[in-house]
Amino acid sequence: MAYAAFRSIGAYIPPKIMTNFDFEKMIDTSDEWITKRTGIKERRVAEDNEASSDLGVRAAQQAIQRAGISKEDIDLVICATVTPDYLCMPSTACLIASKLGLPEVQAFDISAACTGFVYATSVAKAFIESGMKKTVLIIGAEKYSSILDYTDRTTCFLFGDGAGAAILSATDKKEEAIIDINCLSDGNHDDLIQTPGGGSKNPCSQEVVDNKMACIKMKGNETFKLAVKTLTSDVKKLLEKNNLTNENINHFIPHQANYRIIKAVGDALNLSEEQIILTIQKYGNTSAASIPMAMNDAYEEGRIKAGDIILFDAFGSGLTWGSAIFPF
Ligand code: ACO
Repeated sequence: MAYAAFRSIGAYIPPKIMTNFDFEKMIDTSDEWITKRTGIKERRVAEDNEASSDLGVRAAQQAIQRAGISKEDIDLVICATVTPDYLCMPSTACLIASKLGLPEVQAFDISAACTGFVYATSVAKAFIESGMKKTVLIIGAEKYSSILDYTDRTTCFLFGDGAGAAILSATDKKEEAIIDINCLSDGNHDDLIQTPGGGSKNPCSQEVVDNKMACIKMKGNETFKLAVKTLTSDVKKLLEKNNLTNENINHFIPHQANYRIIKAVGDALNLSEEQIILTIQKYGNTSAASIPMAMNDAYEEGRIKAGDIILFDAFGSGLTWGSAIFPF
């Protein structure tokens, strides 16, 4: 049986920075409030003429180069995004594959909001372990600035743009393999984080445009409480199932939604500050891109060494959540 292993990580961080002070000029808020409630100081914003596929392709190029593979080796492209270039079709994965020069490859998107990269990892693992594919490119790419209502002070300061990517491939060495992944959902809480307009339930209309219903709406406080509870129990179960403890984890790379959520989950799991990778302060919440962007930062800082055990953990609209443990 083939196992699935992580081979590389890459990211694209848009250069344009929007600070909390920029938001002070736009909405009734303050740098102090945002920092205290979320840990965010600034976030990145893509150019007007850039779409999610443009961010994703740059992250993918870096991941391919670092994996030391030829792009022709890739036989599956999966893009996790909730800000696709086009609302319904074609998929962003198809566009990224084409921009990479891979016109004849299986490619599709995954919609799992902030849990998208963990979901993509689980699908790549399944394809590789089944023997259907050997080398999979997974991408988390988001242009959240395209679905933000910059007059809604409860959401607009939270999110940023960016992309991350990884190459996963088949191995017969069990010690290199992804140890375990668990992805779950509960659609009963669909109203907590939504873009209510523009889909088949509320198709595009003047009302949708006037009320900015294609922008993200979030019940932040309820989401916050569920996130802490769910993430903590989910990770505990995954560690126990694999006879692992907090001491086996070198790097905890959580979805970067809110510093207080990360701290609460980290404390509940007895993880030290050195184990937790934090980028929320400089990138905000980049949804499906947040975990690979954070992993890329830690990799470039030299914090991640070969063989280190990494724990992913994410929570998002759906609701969806998931965690993964693997050596890098
Ligand atoms: N500036 C100043 N005050 C504000 C702002 C702002 N930008 N926004 C809200 N407030 C006020 C509120 O009006 C409220 O005032 P009141 O007490 O007079 O009524 C007060 O601040 C507290 O509001 P809460 O909503 O209770 O604030 P909370 O502490 O919950 O923080 C936040 C809000 C940061 C959004 C937090 O709830 C959060 O991070 N939630 C989780 C988000 C998340 O994890 N999402 C999942 C992934 S996202 C995805 O899947 C797309």
